[in-house]
Amino acid sequence: MMRWLRKPVQSEEAATPREPAAAEEAGAAAEYLHDDFEDGGSVPEVNPPDIQEMELGPVLSVRDVHRSFPVGSGEIHVLKGINMEVQSGQLVMLKGRSGSGKTTLLNMLGGLDEPSSGEIMFRGQALHQLNDDKRTLLRRNQIGFIFQAYALLPLLSAWENVELSLRMAGVPQQEWKRRVTHCLELVGLGKRMFHRPFELSGGEQQRVAIAKAIAHRPKLLLADEPTANLDSQMGAQVMAVFKNIIHTEHMTICMTTHDPTILEVADHVYEMVDGKFIG
Ligand SMILES: Nc1ncnc2c1ncn2[C@@H]1O[C@H](COP(=O)(O)OP(=O)(O)O)[C@@H](O)[C@H]1O
Ligand SMILES: [Mg+2]
Repeated sequence: MMRWLRKPVQSEEAATPREPAAAEEAGAAAEYLHDDFEDGGSVPEVNPPDIQEMELGPVLSVRDVHRSFPVGSGEIHVLKGINMEVQSGQLVMLKGRSGSGKTTLLNMLGGLDEPSSGEIMFRGQALHQLNDDKRTLLRRNQIGFIFQAYALLPLLSAWENVELSLRMAGVPQQEWKRRVTHCLELVGLGKRMFHRPFELSGGEQQRVAIAKAIAHRPKLLLADEPTANLDSQMGAQVMAVFKNIIHTEHMTICMTTHDPTILEVADHVYEMVDGKFIG
């Protein structure tokens, strides 16, 4: 079964050190391509849905977060005391110039990186206090990521790309077909399911990336400049999909952008200047 997948993954351009989620996924994909489906593999357990938890308090609560990186003999202070809150069902946007610290913050919100100081509560859990394994598990099960450059695996069809994310989250195999179909239909790609990324437009590829990011039903979707490579019409389509996802899939979205027309659809906008929010 699925032997057609047994080819080595070629270079994964997205897997640069600056995109740890993509690097992690490339690793998982390599595993996927070499793994035998029959043996069930070893997949992390999925947390059972906790309805009570879902309704209580903000999805994200960030208190006085700082982040510095060592450079040469000194360090660069990138985030300088970030406070923010994201409520369930909101579409929250971070805007700011290139280099202001948006990606650094988004990585922190998704548990890809740890603050130097301060706290990040994700659905009542102290993300900054979890060890690496627990953070990885939480991230795989409860958070979805979308990047500017789609981060799809080029050898896999849209369908296979989405299915990979279900496998990574440990969703039972019997649920895959239904969920993959549902997610691709949700993003308007019901007729493109078996196309590979190079056979799709930029906007379609980004919509596959969205289907892939939401397939395992994360509570929180984090998107780093998801419309930056798209023309305004395709960007608008992506935003329509985001709005739809919030309502039909009960997700919460936090994204970065500097497009003024896109900022208009946000429930809340945080403006970042040099590692701090203003206004
Ligand atoms: N791992 C790192 N090591 C050193 N500097 C970093 C690292 N990550 C980010 N930076 C620096 O932090 C600043 C903010 O970067 P980033 O968060 O990518 O900004 P934005 O997404 O708003 O463009 C930049 O000056 C960047 O060079
Ligand atoms: Mg960035």
